[in-house]
Amino acid sequence: MTKTPVISAVILAAGQGTRMRSSLPKVLHRLSGKPLIQYSLDAVQGLSSNPPVVVIGHGADAVRSAVGENARFVVQQPQLGTGHAVMSAEQLLKDEADILIVTTADMPLLRHETLRKLVEAQLGNNGPITLLTGFADDAHGFGRIVRAADGSVQAIVEEAAATPAQLAIRELNLSIYCFDAKWLWGALKRIKLSAKGEYYLTDVVAIAREDGLTVQANVLSDFNEAIGINTRVHLAEAEALLRQRINRQWMEFGVTLIDPAATYIESTVQIGRDTIIGPNTHLRGKTVIGEETTIGPNCILEDAQIGSRCTILAAVIEKAVVEDNVSMGPFAHLRKGAHLMKGVHMGNFGEVKDSTLHPGVKMGHFSYIGNADIGENTNIGAGTITCNFDGVNKNPTVIGANVFIGSDTMLVAPLNIGENARTGAGSVVTHDVPAGEVVVGVPARPHRKVEKSD
Ligand code: UD1
Ligand code: MG
Repeated sequence: MTKTPVISAVILAAGQGTRMRSSLPKVLHRLSGKPLIQYSLDAVQGLSSNPPVVVIGHGADAVRSAVGENARFVVQQPQLGTGHAVMSAEQLLKDEADILIVTTADMPLLRHETLRKLVEAQLGNNGPITLLTGFADDAHGFGRIVRAADGSVQAIVEEAAATPAQLAIRELNLSIYCFDAKWLWGALKRIKLSAKGEYYLTDVVAIAREDGLTVQANVLSDFNEAIGINTRVHLAEAEALLRQRINRQWMEFGVTLIDPAATYIESTVQIGRDTIIGPNTHLRGKTVIGEETTIGPNCILEDAQIGSRCTILAAVIEKAVVEDNVSMGPFAHLRKGAHLMKGVHMGNFGEVKDSTLHPGVKMGHFSYIGNADIGENTNIGAGTITCNFDGVNKNPTVIGANVFIGSDTMLVAPLNIGENARTGAGSVVTHDVPAGEVVVGVPARPHRKVEKSD
C-alpha cells in the first residue's frame, strides 16, 4: 500500500509592500473585515496536513501576533527573493512534506477550489511542478509563461529579463505553485543569483527542464482570482470584487439585496432566507440574521444577532441581540449588551446599552435605556432617560411588567419600579416605586387618586 502523501503549504509574506505607503505590514491591511493574510490561510485550510508555514520578514512581529496559533512561522532575513523565501522553510519542512503548495499572502481572491485543483493536478503529475497561470491583457509586472512546441511549460521569464517577443506573451505566472517537495529542496540550491541580486523561485521551472522533467500548468478561468494587492487602489478593487462575490452568493441562497453595489456584507456574516437588505447597509463581524427580516436602508450592524421577521430601519447595532418580530428605527442605536426580546418596538432616536427589554416592551421615541431590565409589555414614554451614571458608577434600573413610564421621566438609578406602576409626565423618580403605585412630580411622589363622589 502506498502511503498518502503529506501536503504542506508555504505562504510568502516577507516582502515590504512599499507601495501601500503604510506603517502597517501589507498583509495586515483589511479586506472585507479580515486581514489580507487570512484569505491565504483560509484558501489552504483543509488542503495541507499540518498548519501552513508563513514566511515573514518585514513587520514580522505584527504579522506573527495577528495570525497567532493558526500557522507556523519562519523568518526570512534579509529578503533575497521568492526562491530564497521558500528555502527559508526547508529546515522546517524537509522531513515532513511530500507535496508543497506555495502561495502568497497578497492574493486574497484566490479560491480554495483553485488550490485544490492545483494539488490534484500535481498528485497526478509525473513531473515536479504544477503552476497556476492566467491570461490577461495587462501583463505589467508579471512573469511570462514560455511554452515549448509540445505545449508544456518551458520557462518563466521575469519582465525585466524578457525579450520583446516574450513581453508580448499574455500567459502570466501567478506565483502559485504545487511542487514535489523532495525535488524542490535540491532545485532551490541550484538557482543562480539574478541581475537584481535575488533568487527567483521562477527559475526552478528551467531547472526542471534541464533535468528532462515536464512542468504542468493549470490555467485560471477567472483572472480576478489573481488580483494581487500592491497598492490601496488594488485593495479597493479587490474589495469591490469580493463584495460582488459575497453578494451573489447571498442572492443565490435566497436573500434579496435591493442594491448589491451599495450592500456591504463581510465574509463572516450569516443571513437567513427571504431576508431583504436595503441599500447602504453594512453587515460586519459575527453578525447573524434570521429569516424574513428586513434590514435597511442605512443600517450598520456589527457582531449583531438578529432574529426572524424583524424590521430594522436606519439603525446602528453593535454587539447586541434582537429577537424575532422586533421593529426598530428609524435612527435607533443598540450598543453592547442590549437585548431586545420578542416583539419589542423601539422607535426613532432611542439608545439602549447593557439592558434587556422583555417581550412586548414599547419604547417609541427619544429615550436612553442603560443598565436596565424592563419587564414585559411595559411602555417607555417619549424622552425617558435612565440616569444610570452618578459620575463614578453605573447603576441599575429594574422596571417590572406592564409599567407605564410617562413622557420625559428621569429614572435616577439605582431604582426599582414594581409591576403595573405608573410615572407622570416629566417626573424625576429618585426612590423605588412599589407595584401598582402612581408617582408624579419633581422629585416624584405618590399621586393620591381623587375619588369621584356622586
Ligand atoms: C512574482 C513572480 C512573477 C509573478 C508575480 C505574480 C518571482 C521571481 N516572480 O513577482 O513571476 O508573475 O510574482 O504576482 O517569483 N516575498 C518574500 N520574500 C522575498 C521576496 C518576496 O516573502 O524575498 C514574497 C512577497 O511578500 C510576496 C511574494 O513573495 O508575497 C511575491 O513577491 P513579489 O516581490 O511581489 O514578486 P513579484 O516581483 O511580483
Ligand atoms: Mg508582486
